[in-house]
Amino acid sequence: MNYRHAFHAGNHADVLKHAVLLYCLDALKRKPAPFAVLDTHAGRGLYDFQADEASRSPEWQDGIARLWDWPEPPPLVARYLEAVRSFNADGALRTYPGSPALVTTNLRDEDVLIACELHPEEHAALKRALPRQGNVQIHVRDGWEALSALLPPTQRRGLVLIDPPYEAPDELAQSARAIGAALKRFAHGTYLWWRPLKSESALNAVDAEARAQGAKETLRADLWVAAPQTEGRLVGSSVYLVNPPFGLRETLKEALPFLADALTKGQSGYRLR
Ligand SMILES: C[S@@+](CC[C@H](N)C(=O)[O-])C[C@H]1O[C@@H](n2cnc3c(N)ncnc32)[C@H](O)[C@@H]1O
Repeated sequence: MNYRHAFHAGNHADVLKHAVLLYCLDALKRKPAPFAVLDTHAGRGLYDFQADEASRSPEWQDGIARLWDWPEPPPLVARYLEAVRSFNADGALRTYPGSPALVTTNLRDEDVLIACELHPEEHAALKRALPRQGNVQIHVRDGWEALSALLPPTQRRGLVLIDPPYEAPDELAQSARAIGAALKRFAHGTYLWWRPLKSESALNAVDAEARAQGAKETLRADLWVAAPQTEGRLVGSSVYLVNPPFGLRETLKEALPFLADALTKGQSGYRLR
């Protein structure tokens, strides 16, 4: 486990993933019934853009930093920026909230976050980053194992975020199989699955696998900021949703062309299907 999200926090891929994550949370809060969020690969929770990793790999400067002072971005992006601003009270962009931090600050008292992080140092940092409150559970635990052990949640409604590091070559296929198994126990949950966009055909294949495993209502959004590269920095990403919230497709239709323009480093583009 060499992957450290601190090198990538706030980049174009985080912008897409976290903007969609917030939309999903807001959609769950439209109903009064409590919900649970299972974050299978949570990371360290908070990222300091002045720390060594972010200085050595300033991907955030071509990600969230480009959007920070944008006058009137589309609603999906405006909501995301508002959420990140709440971690930067003086208005200067220094702290970036990862998925468990964004979830925690957007829960109601009765909603629950279960965050799993297997790396001991990242897990320790996550425990320091998140507030100690009864509805936030932080596990040093294998996210794949948690997917089979912790679903369905007692609340019977909620969101599962699957965001592995893709260090192992089979993690795409493993994710598709894990979603299929999870759907058998928690069929109507919303699943948000993040993937690197390196090969469209590889993603098409795992999407087909997920559908074969029982993913019926699905939505996929791809965003790339430069021409696809097989080596070097990641230039594109994809989110795949099972049981996407109402309205997300239309919201993304407006946000994706904006993000492709705002974050471009050359041949940017997007796909929504
Ligand atoms: C892409 S990062 C997570 C980023 C986070 N979800 C966010 O959006 O802010 C993936 C994380 O998964 C952790 N990890 C790797 N293998 C894991 C496993 N089997 N179970 C849980 N966490 C794991 C890594 O240490 C890393 O912190």
